[in-house]
Amino acid sequence: MKGIILAGGLGTRLRPLTLVTNKHLLPIYDRPMIYYPIECLVNAGIREILIVTGGEHAGDFLKLLRNGKHLGLRDLHYTYQEGEGGIADALKLGEDFADGDKVCVVLGDNIIQRNIRKAVGDFFTQPTGAKILLKQVDDPQRFGVARIENGRIVQILEKPEDPPSNYAVTGFYMYDNDVFDIARTLEPSDRGELEITDVNNEYLRRGDLTYSVLDGWWTDAGTFESLYRAACLVAEGGANGGNQENHAELLSGTGVSPVHAPA
Ligand code: DAU
Repeated sequence: MKGIILAGGLGTRLRPLTLVTNKHLLPIYDRPMIYYPIECLVNAGIREILIVTGGEHAGDFLKLLRNGKHLGLRDLHYTYQEGEGGIADALKLGEDFADGDKVCVVLGDNIIQRNIRKAVGDFFTQPTGAKILLKQVDDPQRFGVARIENGRIVQILEKPEDPPSNYAVTGFYMYDNDVFDIARTLEPSDRGELEITDVNNEYLRRGDLTYSVLDGWWTDAGTFESLYRAACLVAEGGANGGNQENHAELLSGTGVSPVHAPA
């Protein structure tokens, strides 16, 4: 399975911070934001990664991440999203990189306490379809939200005013290669974006969407409040199943991040 990190978009909710840099290069406590999704994938055993970025500061990713070897990657690829056409629009750029494989997609501003190794392993043995990771939250109206009946997801709604549950859809998605055909069929939503929720609902329609619920904390970091919260959570106990000591090698920029036991 290959990894795709979506780090495009213009980060308008974080202006003025994002006027002079890309959102995913902003610090979360002691590391740039983009380190966290990379480490998440490495800890899940995925070492071939594509980063989709965009905007005016895309070149800075190369300066920071180079060939990714120092971050535990076997191969690091980059591509560029023109404009801000949505998460599914950014994902479309990964088709050649995926080259027929399954993909694990991580939003570049999502950070978790534990790791997703078990879910990735489960999806590896899932013959077809998609798998999403849910998390119970206090503010589901900010996210994609799953309507669940008898333990099964029956619908996913994007930022509903009246959420049918408090199960948010987190920014960790696993797809078979059909995802690229599905993405081609999408129409822009009212906010003018190709929505990942529409992709997930298509898998649901096909009866081929599974889910797990994440252990530990999860946060995005795309607003001032969540950026601050993410930094505090990382400072208190580390992310991706680790603690600050675990990250010594990654911080020094020389080593390979440790692989942690499943959450
Ligand atoms: O954080 C999880 C949520 O992420 C999900 O619950 C929602 O269903 C999903 O739509 C998304 O919601 P947001 O509206 O908060 O996503 P945002 O626009 O902040 O984009 C999240 C990341 O996706 C961003 O850090 C980079 C990437 N992205 C986004 C857009 C709009 C791209 O690579 N290209 C894009 O055009």
